[in-house]
Amino acid sequence: MPEKIYTYESDEITVTWDKFKCIHAKECVHGLPGVFNINEKPWIQPGKEAADKVAEVVMRCPTGALQFQRKDGAAEETAPKQNTLTIAEDGPLYVAGDIKLKNADDELISEETRVALCRCGLSSNKPYCDNSHIKAEFKAGTSFNPERLLLEETDDTGGELSIKIRPNSSLFVEGTYTLTGDGQEVSTTKKMSFCRCGASANKPFCDGAHKSAGFTSD
Ligand code: SF4
Ligand code: FES
Repeated sequence: MPEKIYTYESDEITVTWDKFKCIHAKECVHGLPGVFNINEKPWIQPGKEAADKVAEVVMRCPTGALQFQRKDGAAEETAPKQNTLTIAEDGPLYVAGDIKLKNADDELISEETRVALCRCGLSSNKPYCDNSHIKAEFKAGTSFNPERLLLEETDDTGGELSIKIRPNSSLFVEGTYTLTGDGQEVSTTKKMSFCRCGASANKPFCDGAHKSAGFTSD
């Protein structure tokens, strides 16, 4: 997971931007064009607006590329109370919540509140999306078969959401979460493997096709 993190400061807030996690979703430039402006240098100038507004727009960044730390004692970002997985058409799986990314040995790699996870298998920044799906013309809809999720339906989708990155294989999601796509929405406690190789015929879930596809990723 390469990182290139830039820092931008005002008296009240520090904003950081991870170049490799940014997939130009543009929530920032649309949300506060005076602060996030790619035609200016530096492209982020947090001092141009109230720190509360800056923090609010940073938290809209769906990939976690943008983060903030308050210097004025105001509240830091906390994890959303509900965990959500949103399938993007021909693109990544957006996850928001109390996310714990883990390796195959169940060791914590990072704690996050917002991530975009690669679904096409081609990102150079796995498990994160790096927009490789666009060049590859990856095609994947957003509908899903809800059958197994409905076996363990729930109302409460809070608490820790563990995402285990399985080598050469899927993302194993454990916890409670709402999965959203194509007009469908199911809240569940069902442990599920999500495809990250791009080859499953049962997307967004893994169907074992990573083996025949020869998918490799640590
Ligand atoms: S919202 Fe996040 S991912 Fe989108 S352009 Fe801004 S920094 Fe990049
Ligand atoms: S990760 Fe794609 S089928 Fe298993």
